[in-house]
Amino acid sequence: DVIEADGQVLLPGFVDLHTHLREPGREDTETIESGSAAAALGGYTAVFAMANTSPVADSVVITDHVWRRGQEVGLVDVHPVGAVTVGLAGKQLAEMATMAAGVGAVKMFSDDGHCVADPLIMRRALEYSSSLGVLIAQHAEEPRLTVGAVAHEGPTAARLGLAGWPRAAEESIVARDALLARDAGARVHICHASTAGTVELVKWARGQGIAITAEVTPHHLLLDDSRLETYDGVNRVNPPLREASDVAALRKGLAEGILDCVATDHAPHAEQDKCCEFSAARPGMLGLETALAIVVQTMVTPGLLDWRGVARVMSERPAEIVGLTDQGRPIAVGEPANLTLVDPDHEWTVRAPELASLSHNSPFDAMTFGAKVTATLLRGRVTVRGGKVQS
Ligand code: NCD
Ligand code: ZN
Ligand code: ZN
Ligand code: ZN
Repeated sequence: DVIEADGQVLLPGFVDLHTHLREPGREDTETIESGSAAAALGGYTAVFAMANTSPVADSVVITDHVWRRGQEVGLVDVHPVGAVTVGLAGKQLAEMATMAAGVGAVKMFSDDGHCVADPLIMRRALEYSSSLGVLIAQHAEEPRLTVGAVAHEGPTAARLGLAGWPRAAEESIVARDALLARDAGARVHICHASTAGTVELVKWARGQGIAITAEVTPHHLLLDDSRLETYDGVNRVNPPLREASDVAALRKGLAEGILDCVATDHAPHAEQDKCCEFSAARPGMLGLETALAIVVQTMVTPGLLDWRGVARVMSERPAEIVGLTDQGRPIAVGEPANLTLVDPDHEWTVRAPELASLSHNSPFDAMTFGAKVTATLLRGRVTVRGGKVQS
């Protein structure tokens, strides 16, 4: 079997710490199978499936199902993320030890979609996590700052009258959890960092020796609040699209290694849940199939990252953060072939209806990019060739 690699770039298979597959519960919008195809097409060999399914992934029954189903599909390792609490934003810690000891061997816990808002629960979760050797990932949003008519940050959103999620909601939790992690002697991971202030706080915390890591999404690296002018629900996401100055700070933070990695926050939603009034549209955007192209456009093309840096933020760092030993490794003799081949000069236009995802809520629809994943290998098996899934 020959894979054409002339002029292409070989990278370790990508690892996404933040993917929403909607199984169980909303299989009309994404399944483990359809999400795995989207992931493989995006160059991923491992994804972490967030816990906000229905039922919530707060027990080993669900987390083991997610892992097993992913292995059955066989396109990408689907690592289950367990819920920190029983139910999202619950009042009681979930049985993390049981989920960590399951077949799915849960390595990361989060209430993503909801903040672990109660500081005592977060503190206990951090203590518990460090004794178990797992990671707590925080969706940083102080809920008491996001209710009511608080404007999105920035003059555009304020003028448009859009309710949303101010910077302080994110940054106050980042600061709080950095301090809680310090006191618990634990590690904490910040989901979807979106503000210049979050970058500063992560930098400060790390300077204090606090074990904090953070991810940034492709959409927050590319899009700013000028997109909100159209009131199109496709642009509604948590955290919201911020100002151009935040976008610049996120790019710089990723280039400097303050932000550790890129994570998609791939969030499929049905047409009818997105095509309503902006404030009623469900938050979230597709991300798996477009991530690499956006990282190249926002980071490689402007000279902020070289290809070595792409390997770091898309694969090596995320694997390290979550302690995956069989992924994200430098390509060396004898390593399992989890690989992604990228054509750095392949112009293509995103057609949202043609994406492998069952949903089509891509804000990148009709945008043209200059790089594309052409092949993906999972443990030596070709999952994507010539930009097509091999099943
Ligand atoms: C996510 C979803 O749809 O599950 N939505 C989003 O806007 N990012 C939840 C989340 O990541 O907070
Ligand atoms: Zn979130
Ligand atoms: Zn999410
Ligand atoms: Zn639509």
